[in-house]
Amino acid sequence: MTPAEAQQRIAQLRADVARHDERYYRQAKPEITDFAYDGLKRELAELEAEFPLFATADSPTQRVGDDRVQGFREVAHRQKMLSLDNTYSEEEVRAFHTRMVRLLGTEDLHYTVEPKIDGLAVSLTYEQGRFVRAVTRGTGDKGDDVTANVRTIASLPRELKKVRGTVMPDVVEIRGEIYLTAAEFERINAERAAAGEELYANPRNTAAGTIKQLDAAEVARRKLSIVLYSLGHCEPAVVTTQARLHERLKAWGLPHVERIWHALGIDEVWASIGELDALRRSFAYGTDGAVVKLDDMALQREVGATDKAPRWAIAYKYKPDTARTRLKAITIQVGKTGILSPVAELEPVFLAGSTIARATLHNEEEIRRKDIRVGDLVEIEKAGEVIPAVLRSFPEERLPGAPEFDLPAAVGHKCPVCGGKIAKLAVADEEAQGVAWKCQNYDCSAQRTGRLGFFCSRKALAIDGVGGVVAEKLVELGHVQDPPDLYDVAQETLATLNLGTAEKPRVFGEKNAAKVVAAREAARALPLEKWLYALSVPDVGETTARELGRRHRNFTELADSALLRAVLQKAGLAAERELQAPSSRKNPAKSDEDRARRKELCVRLDAEIAGLDAGPLAGVPSDIGPAVAASVVEFFASVPGKRLLAKLQQLGIDPQGTVVAAGVFTGKTFVLTGTLPTMKREEAEQKILAAGGKVSGSVSKKTSYVLAGAEAGSKLDKARELGVPVIDETEFQRLLGR
Ligand code: IVH
Repeated sequence: MTPAEAQQRIAQLRADVARHDERYYRQAKPEITDFAYDGLKRELAELEAEFPLFATADSPTQRVGDDRVQGFREVAHRQKMLSLDNTYSEEEVRAFHTRMVRLLGTEDLHYTVEPKIDGLAVSLTYEQGRFVRAVTRGTGDKGDDVTANVRTIASLPRELKKVRGTVMPDVVEIRGEIYLTAAEFERINAERAAAGEELYANPRNTAAGTIKQLDAAEVARRKLSIVLYSLGHCEPAVVTTQARLHERLKAWGLPHVERIWHALGIDEVWASIGELDALRRSFAYGTDGAVVKLDDMALQREVGATDKAPRWAIAYKYKPDTARTRLKAITIQVGKTGILSPVAELEPVFLAGSTIARATLHNEEEIRRKDIRVGDLVEIEKAGEVIPAVLRSFPEERLPGAPEFDLPAAVGHKCPVCGGKIAKLAVADEEAQGVAWKCQNYDCSAQRTGRLGFFCSRKALAIDGVGGVVAEKLVELGHVQDPPDLYDVAQETLATLNLGTAEKPRVFGEKNAAKVVAAREAARALPLEKWLYALSVPDVGETTARELGRRHRNFTELADSALLRAVLQKAGLAAERELQAPSSRKNPAKSDEDRARRKELCVRLDAEIAGLDAGPLAGVPSDIGPAVAASVVEFFASVPGKRLLAKLQQLGIDPQGTVVAAGVFTGKTFVLTGTLPTMKREEAEQKILAAGGKVSGSVSKKTSYVLAGAEAGSKLDKARELGVPVIDETEFQRLLGR
């Protein structure tokens, strides 16, 4: 691989990992298995090692995934919450031991082997034995305060039991994992199925999603569990070995792991990993691996840790369970944006605790790449976290003549739901990335159902109960075309809505109907950003909706947005500028005269662009680029877009934007570095935001000021290199006061 190729691949991998981190840590909705994710991270780490020139401190290989979400108080951990290095290979577990031997100068090393619990990490603080706080891992340095939610966990003691002959630490951080038992997960899903709500994919993500709910009463309804396995800060220190720690956790009355293994040397470690594998499916929590730790805490301190993980531990992850079965057919599902997704219909097979008859095939490209054909023997994987996926086929066992899968041909070149036109288009949304076949009919009932479900989802307007089969029936029976039509459905109609069949009726019910009516009324008051997101405007995700909501007063202003026009105008000017550049490859200057004329033209174009940047586009983030602008403008000018706006008007729904008042820092971006003499970092950030400015983590040409304090780091060098103005706190206060 050439350095240029490596650089490109590294950038791609970082973007992919960042997207998957967002889905896993914040949205609790991963789209790939841990195994596939670990593969991406490994490739990235290897490339960074081979091409150190492209290694950066902010690479996902150098930090822990960030789980923080809005709405929670942030709390600093007293001792950093680290992650673990992990591997799928025996060889690397053995290499870990070799490293320990080299660092510590002895072969005689004791380890513990413990279950690696597949939940979400949390740190509990007990002061004088009383539970006072629970914080998620967050960035590792600080996380979200989820104390109220953790208090709902019945098995967690509020007081640690006194252990005779030992001291109770003044302050101790106890770390562990929050999880849902399989039984509780199934109970929740059964309840959701009965209410016509979308089912959760797996226990881990449901637990993660639950702990990040702002309403503790809601959390209490789901019986979360917890298990503790390690210490953070502890004053005074109470134990000297990992094995003793487990005993102490037990003695304090805390929920602890079922079993740990003591191992002397690497062969015993490897044998223990095997024993754990045979037992792990009987544990109450999902166990996706084994954690090997040096037993002696003095030795742990001696080998130390990197920024991200201790050197004295390693996680061995078991390969996800797989099974072989026959691919009976490939059917096509239509999502809310019209994307056609292939689904594998399988000969039912028992795998990792459940019978599997369907699996995702992602997209047409993937089917081709893996050479999967109807009738094939296939290997499927279920990693406990995500929808089962088809891993591979066995072409050597295929009967000759099996045709390649051709998606458009399989659906007769039309949408399998509405019969409408389909087209292959570039897509970039929550359903898929890249190129996909799409149903072009906005009024396709599958799209209508998908949009209604999304409109009512938690992240959108939170009208609980209107997902899955409920949305399907409302559309099927003609009650709803566009999501806002939901406001016209009478409570009585909702209550008697038949979710079953004519022979086996099952109604939605009075109570559920009353809840929907209350929730839809409450949603009237939600801001423009929520409504915009809820209406599934093409290319408008959560962030874009927020940015647009902050810059427009209402839908009327957005539909005729001067800002979006300016974005498009700038894109047009930039394209023209590129074409007119005398050095343009596509359009080289023909003569000196031509060159001079075009140079002049470019100066004019640059000035126009700069005028837009300083004027209507000042402070507009890159989220709102020409593609988004074109999508939004087009959508509100289209028949469906106009229909939606007219409907909202008729319903008297007029969501308001949260336009931030212009301040002294409007359009200015700050980067903070070092310690300020009197102001805390958060304080300075607040002041910047309140004055209309923005705060960014890295210095670029677009940075307006770097606010630097004592012990400023590389950001200061970068600022000097790029000629970005550097100011101190005094200067900052002066600018603020102006
Ligand atoms: S020890 C400094 N032990 O796995 C020690 N972690 O993938 C770090 N985890 O961040 C943690 N089971 O959230 C430890 N028995 C166990 C664990 C465990 C699950 C989690 C933990 C960690 C993550 C790393």
